[in-house]
Amino acid sequence: MGSNKSSLIASGRNRVEWASTRMPVLGIIRRQFSALKPLRGAKLGGCLHLTTETAVLAITLKAGGAEVCMCASNPLSTQDDVVAYLNSQGIRAMGFRGESAKNYYKAIADTIAFRPKLVMDDGGDLTNAAISAGLDAMGGMEETTTGIFRLKALEKAGRLTFPVIGVNDADTKHMFDNRYGTGQSTIDGILRATNIMLAGKNFVVGGYGWVGRGIAMRARGMGARVIVTEIDPVKALEAYMDGFDVKTMDEAAKAGDIFVTATGNCDIITERHIKKMKDLAIVANSGHFNVEINVKDLEKLAAKKREIRAQLYEYTMKDGRRILLIAQGRLVNLSAAEGHPSEVMDMSFANQALSAVYLLKNGKSMANRVYDVPRVIDQNVAKLKLESLKISIDKLSERQKRYLSSYESGT
Ligand SMILES: NC(=O)c1ccc[n+]([C@@H]2O[C@H](COP(=O)([O-])OP(=O)(O)OC[C@H]3O[C@@H](n4cnc5c(N)ncnc54)[C@H](O)[C@@H]3O)[C@@H](O)[C@H]2O)c1
Repeated sequence: MGSNKSSLIASGRNRVEWASTRMPVLGIIRRQFSALKPLRGAKLGGCLHLTTETAVLAITLKAGGAEVCMCASNPLSTQDDVVAYLNSQGIRAMGFRGESAKNYYKAIADTIAFRPKLVMDDGGDLTNAAISAGLDAMGGMEETTTGIFRLKALEKAGRLTFPVIGVNDADTKHMFDNRYGTGQSTIDGILRATNIMLAGKNFVVGGYGWVGRGIAMRARGMGARVIVTEIDPVKALEAYMDGFDVKTMDEAAKAGDIFVTATGNCDIITERHIKKMKDLAIVANSGHFNVEINVKDLEKLAAKKREIRAQLYEYTMKDGRRILLIAQGRLVNLSAAEGHPSEVMDMSFANQALSAVYLLKNGKSMANRVYDVPRVIDQNVAKLKLESLKISIDKLSERQKRYLSSYESGT
């Protein structure tokens, strides 16, 4: 048992160190935090995917003087060696891969019992629990699109009891993490779970937001024929002009070999779509919650089910067709692969770390609303990332600044 634990810790340490080499912006922030301790004494409760990148963030927050307690934001995305390593470093981390819903919510309750002043969330479960428990928090941060939807609904209902910064909405977050991070890691998850060939396949993407765009782009790059479904006419037109087929899900259901939902909405694939699908169609979700594919409908239509490979369930319909579901309809990139590459989480988590400092300084004078990440933080993260990539960009001259702010000059 002891040696098992120490080998888990060693594996976690190696993998976290590897991720850290790919996270230079967070590295700069960590060095500043170590010197200045801007989070000194602050209790920070986090509900994030417990991956190597989250560990680099937690270590950075601790270096800044925070006392950190973390739970998982999904029962299937936890990396057990990362949890073991964090606990060995004096950072409380709870949860294990494949935990029950009961355990998942208990870890959230334990994080609230830690009485954090700052709440760092991914999806809104911790924030909701904090509000229900009447937690006296100074502020919160939210990592993902679905969490922001939920926070805005809470704000509208007058139920938000502390200010929250919507980290997802920073340009240096959603334009990169949601698009390139999820684009690549979703393909990674599908390939690890199935080992299928993408070239020539009909690949259906539900939703053409930041995540959907990234998945569609990367699936095309692997040679798939991509079909997009949407409800927003502008996004549908964008997908069309980006060169993708646009169809309703009812039409796409008949054609698809692989389906990935990325809408943040429920019931994208339901009974009536499943009934139209081809034999051996593969279905996965990359949206935050496991509500996009109606798994209950799939279970109801199936005569039998078996786990044919790790994270891949084969449902045999009463008419003999086989439909394959990856990772129980939970985020495929974090359940069947390791989530986003560290390089992209570097920017998302730099926004998280700097927003935590901002909230600690300014939270008391902020209203109970959802705020954007301050523009100066967003721009600074982009600047630091470019510097780490050794990319220089031009600067506006005084004449250019005057030109851009004047209305007199024309042809
Ligand atoms: N897997 C991950 O690691 C990861 C990373 C980032 C975001 N997310 C999650 O992915 C989801 C999408 O995020 P996003 O940033 O792309 O959001 P977004 O708002 O940019 O895009 C969502 C798109 O889905 C469309 N949509 C809504 N209902 C639809 C329906 N019934 N049929 C077809 N399209 C529909 C919307 O019109 C919109 O264009 C969210 O749940 C978000 O939290 C997951």
